[in-house]
Amino acid sequence: MKVGIIGSGGREHSLCEALSKSKKISKIYCFPGNAGTQSIAENININIDDFEILKKFVISKKIELIVVGPEKPLVEGIVDFFENINIPIFGPNKLASQLEGSKIFTKKICDKYKIPTAKFGIFESINKAKLFLNNMKFPMVVKADGLAAGKGVYICENKENAENAIEEIFNGKFGEAKNVLLEEFLIGEEMSYFVVSDGKNIKKFETAQDHKRVGEGDIGKNTGGMGAYSPSNLINNDLDKKILEKIIYPTLNALKNMNCEYKGFLYAGLMIVKNEPYLIEYNVRMGDPECQTILPKLKTDLLDIILACAERKLAQTEIEWHNKNSLSIVLCSKGYPDKYQNNILIKNLDQVILKSNQKIYHAGTKNEKNNIFSNGGRVLNFVSLSNNFKEARDSNIEMIKKINWTEGFYRKDIGYKVIK
Ligand code: AMP
Ligand code: GLY
Repeated sequence: MKVGIIGSGGREHSLCEALSKSKKISKIYCFPGNAGTQSIAENININIDDFEILKKFVISKKIELIVVGPEKPLVEGIVDFFENINIPIFGPNKLASQLEGSKIFTKKICDKYKIPTAKFGIFESINKAKLFLNNMKFPMVVKADGLAAGKGVYICENKENAENAIEEIFNGKFGEAKNVLLEEFLIGEEMSYFVVSDGKNIKKFETAQDHKRVGEGDIGKNTGGMGAYSPSNLINNDLDKKILEKIIYPTLNALKNMNCEYKGFLYAGLMIVKNEPYLIEYNVRMGDPECQTILPKLKTDLLDIILACAERKLAQTEIEWHNKNSLSIVLCSKGYPDKYQNNILIKNLDQVILKSNQKIYHAGTKNEKNNIFSNGGRVLNFVSLSNNFKEARDSNIEMIKKINWTEGFYRKDIGYKVIK
């Protein structure tokens, strides 16, 4: 079977590697992929925003399954597009993707179905939003409604910060804004919770914790994610049951009531407050770097899981995991998440002889004449499995030191909450 993977990050390299282990797959194409995927698949450098061009390629190469990594094509309806021409594609359709595409869509579902989440208000003008600030305690949160590549969320310490955020959003910093979301600030610990769904049934897909801030000790600017570990130490049977019953099932039920089935990975970003889950946001895809952290623990063939979703047979599929801890560290370009340089040579990658518990997944890299160059803010992901998180972290740092890429930086404290 020929498979196409959409995306170019570490998440997609890990999906590509997991799929490449399946005996049923003869060839993988990555659109556009990175230097890592290039060593196991064929990278195709076409514009993934142009579904027509993608369709021509998919048909000409007789690709039988498309797996979508990032949210943007999902929110733009790539699944509806390929389903209309009967080409199997793994991911939620355009309506279901509104769970990530519109924070207000999700908040309205939370409201109607009594899903625990931060208290909120939706405001249609700068003045109304600013006026409401008089009723809020600080810190509080201001959010743009639509996709904003992780940047549309402002944690505001005071009224002036909040007023600026509201103005930036209405002035179009994240595209045309019809409204803004004001939220109560929740105090707790964050957890990433994943399920996979075939439209009828779901299966759990492990938990993780991600370090989103750029600096050690979780300080500084928000990033796409500087490293993660799995499982989360917060999860227990009682919490698991609450997450499913209070958050996941009511959400899928809400979609069903809109005549919409959810297929694909669903990622709930949760705040855990005294063993109670609150929904912060949904993502309609795997997390990055959570995907790279979780997939090395998967025993079951990933293709079998995806095909079971396509055939609505997930209930009959057992998902098995290696009983290990996994930890990832992201090596970034200096300057990220602000300005950084691309096209910097990364030597020494071949100096690392991977042990069976170690992985290196590429993110922002490209291969030119067999040299690897940086091509993004998050460049390489180092992942290790171990019985304990400390060993996994040490193993990653050992790999990073061997590569000794002086133009990069990384957090040495990933997992500090679970490592004494
Ligand atoms: P989001 O893009 O919605 O995940 O928000 C980005 C980050 O902002 C989250 O990972 C949280 O750390 C933080 N955040 C968002 N909403 C809240 C909230 N209501 N209370 C506390 N922190 C929040
Ligand atoms: N690691 C956070 C995300 O993928 O959105």
